[in-house]
Amino acid sequence: MHIESATQEQLIEWEKELSAHYDKICRHELSLDITRGKPSAEQLKLSDKLDGILSADYRTADGTDTRNYGGLIGLSCARELGAEMLQVPVNEVIAGGNSSLTLMYHAVVTGYLFGFAGNKPWRELTAPKFLCPVPGYDRHFSICEQLGIEMINVPMGEDGPDMDLVEKLLGQDPEIVGIWCVPKFSNPTGVTYSRETVERLAQLGQIAGAGFRIFWDNAYSIHDLGNRVSLANIRSATLENGTVDSVLQFASTSKVTHAGAGVAFVSASQANLDSLKAQMQAMTIGPDKVNQLRHSRFFTEHTSLAEHMHKHADILRPKFECVLEHLHNAFSDADMGSWEKPEGGYFVSFNTLPGCAKAVVKMAADAGVKLTPAGATFPYGQDPEDCNIRIAPSFPPLEELDTAMSIFVLCVKLVSLRKKLATIS
Ligand SMILES: Cc1ncc(COP(=O)(O)O)c(C=O)c1O
Repeated sequence: MHIESATQEQLIEWEKELSAHYDKICRHELSLDITRGKPSAEQLKLSDKLDGILSADYRTADGTDTRNYGGLIGLSCARELGAEMLQVPVNEVIAGGNSSLTLMYHAVVTGYLFGFAGNKPWRELTAPKFLCPVPGYDRHFSICEQLGIEMINVPMGEDGPDMDLVEKLLGQDPEIVGIWCVPKFSNPTGVTYSRETVERLAQLGQIAGAGFRIFWDNAYSIHDLGNRVSLANIRSATLENGTVDSVLQFASTSKVTHAGAGVAFVSASQANLDSLKAQMQAMTIGPDKVNQLRHSRFFTEHTSLAEHMHKHADILRPKFECVLEHLHNAFSDADMGSWEKPEGGYFVSFNTLPGCAKAVVKMAADAGVKLTPAGATFPYGQDPEDCNIRIAPSFPPLEELDTAMSIFVLCVKLVSLRKKLATIS
């Protein structure tokens, strides 16, 4: 169905046909949800052995009683897990509580209130700003918005953010203090940054002000759906470029074990870790070491990270295939949208024709299919083209996802047709 080359009569005919189909679906009063990237119950079950794994043995190999206070930077066995996920040395890892987002929030607040590694706190600048590759992760943007840090959109390409623009902006404005990066299976595009992009990011510390930090949120570092996709090591690249202080890396087991009850990690240079620890000391006596020990035992006694992630992939793969098949069948021979084919992560990013995303989301909601609000993948909730929609296939059972996707493609077709008709009538 090519709406650009169709006659007005054809468009009217198609619109009538699809409208009738849509009205029929609305009468079914469905309630389907493909909004957030949550693991399904089947995935969560893979980690149920966490429960009871300690068998009343709460001590680590070095004799630490995990039930008691202390250990600000986490257990060494948990830090080893973080080091494996992020491919960094264990002495550069802090194992924290249940959420990497909390660690990111903490890191931004540290930069804002106190500054990193002896640099000026960002709040003392006239207008501190973050670069935000778009579409991106809404919760990153919420942190900046809450603190009044201005956000500048940078388009994402197939290799990662538009690095020409990133370098240009940093060269022009010394008050750009950070950039958000989801370098592997990016949320929502699924893009993995190329080696060249990682190399150029590692050089930013030479152009930017000393307080500038890359927030390297490697949330999907081990979430491959098939063959392992490799991501260049940013730490090694910064070491080669003399910019090791410019990066803070984050990961968690949220989408590995139990979401919301996992262990989160931050890794950085000693100078950055010292800045983080200085603030953490006032904030907490220490993380939940019992949960850290449970995770460490789980990934040594019960399974390996790689084996465990293969099981996740086996559950997730058919769901991604379902989404991609619907999109392929509906739009591969049409001019109504484009999408990415991710090899891992949690999302499929779909771009409608300009000006259609909000209408598609509304129309799907009216038919009982909840989608992430249009605009959510952009700072301030404003997609300048009103075209990006994030599809999260992981949570619903396959049959529900299948139904939700057939309604989604129907809504995209109807909105596109109606928009075209409105311009020619
Ligand atoms: C890119 C990204 N970072 C962080 C998170 C949240 O991680 P956590 O549960 O460790 O806070 C998510 C969850 O969707 C995510 O997509």
